[in-house]
Amino acid sequence: MRLHAAVALAHLLFVAVLCEKVRYDDYKVYKVTPQSAEAIITLKGLENAAATSYNFWSPVGSIGVPVDIMVSPDHEAQLLGMVEALGMDSRVMMDNVQRYIDEESRPRVAREDEWGWERYQTLEEINVWLRTLTIIYPQTVTLIEGGITSAVVTYILNELVTSQNATIRALAESHDWYVFPVFNPDGFEYSHTTDRMWRKTRVPHSILCFGADPNRNWDFQWSVAGTSFSPCTEIYHGPQPFSEPSCRSMAQFITGVADQLVAYLSFHSFSQMMLIPYGHTSEHLDNYDLIYEVGRRSAEALASRYGTQYRVGTVYEVIYPASGSSCDWVKGTFNTSIVYTYELRDLGEYGFLLPPEQIIPTALETLDSFITIFEEYYNLTGQ
Ligand SMILES: *[C@@H]1O[C@H](CO)[C@@H](O)[C@H](O)[C@H]1NC(C)=O
Ligand SMILES: *[C@@H]1O[C@H](CO)[C@@H](O)[C@H](O)[C@H]1NC(C)=O
Ligand SMILES: *[C@@H]1O[C@H](CO)[C@@H](O)[C@H](O)[C@H]1NC(C)=O
Repeated sequence: MRLHAAVALAHLLFVAVLCEKVRYDDYKVYKVTPQSAEAIITLKGLENAAATSYNFWSPVGSIGVPVDIMVSPDHEAQLLGMVEALGMDSRVMMDNVQRYIDEESRPRVAREDEWGWERYQTLEEINVWLRTLTIIYPQTVTLIEGGITSAVVTYILNELVTSQNATIRALAESHDWYVFPVFNPDGFEYSHTTDRMWRKTRVPHSILCFGADPNRNWDFQWSVAGTSFSPCTEIYHGPQPFSEPSCRSMAQFITGVADQLVAYLSFHSFSQMMLIPYGHTSEHLDNYDLIYEVGRRSAEALASRYGTQYRVGTVYEVIYPASGSSCDWVKGTFNTSIVYTYELRDLGEYGFLLPPEQIIPTALETLDSFITIFEEYYNLTGQ
């Protein structure tokens, strides 16, 4: 009996510890630009070390490509030492990450318990809202359990279901839509309850470090470029392809609808890009020319509302080599016609902590480009 009580107590303590939110007081984000091969090697070394002191908000690429690094207060001097020794350019993007987290979670227009796009939604709220949609619009919405992380996605879904705009209605009615507002539910929930900066899954791959990068775990050119074998990094690809249950179940679902699949669009934050496969090679494959042109016109449509500028190109060329993404897997496996990854606002001023008042403007401009993708694709292919 004693043992049971002890186990129960230990469990409670464990839970209590887990429930305490991780704080980022005086953590800073630096934008550091390596100017030499030596600087790249040094940064890669930091990237492969445990992510507790240095957390890379963007992976190390090539010479001249800036890297956003969040650093704990006790490692700041060390980072700045390296920056100086290696002659890297650097500037502070955020001076106290906790302040941005507090700002981001403060409700503005809407009340805390009200559904809306003036603040970020939790997993439970998204689930309740999705179920409500299925009750109000039973013929239109079919709910699919599955493992994308964005208020912008729920906004677009809401428009597809409820908008009276003729262009949006025509697009909505002419296709079947499968929308997954939360693709990595465990990681998403953990980012709300415990650690706002959490981006990986929550699978315990090592004693020290949990989770793998769900966008480097897919079974196409897995581990080939821009990923890590170290479970403690943000870009850990997992012990094998599809080791992560959320990726696996999503892949099974996509396989089931692949022969009718016209488009696969994935939404991430941040850096204002429309990315085209592939991430493992600089070669332009399949229907690159068409998809580049459609992407370019969509980015123009996106800019027309508020002037937000997006870059368009392959993952490999526009950001850095990175393999094992869901988009590359879909394209590489099924040769699906329209495949894009959106990296939404902003360019690193707020990074992963985009203020809630930017959700609706981001959603509106993204919707403009979303509609343009389909219009231009069908226009250019004469369908
Ligand atoms: C993929 O589809 C494109 C047309 O969209 C076609 O030109 C290309 O040959 C296909 N690639 C493969 C590997 O089937
Ligand atoms: C319909 O929505 C599109 C895309 O957001 C927009 O460009 C267009 O102006 C809207 N039309 C009307 C009549 O509001
Ligand atoms: C379709 O393409 C034609 C010619 O390329 C262009 O004039 C027209 O504006 C396009 N339509 C749409 C809906 O984008």
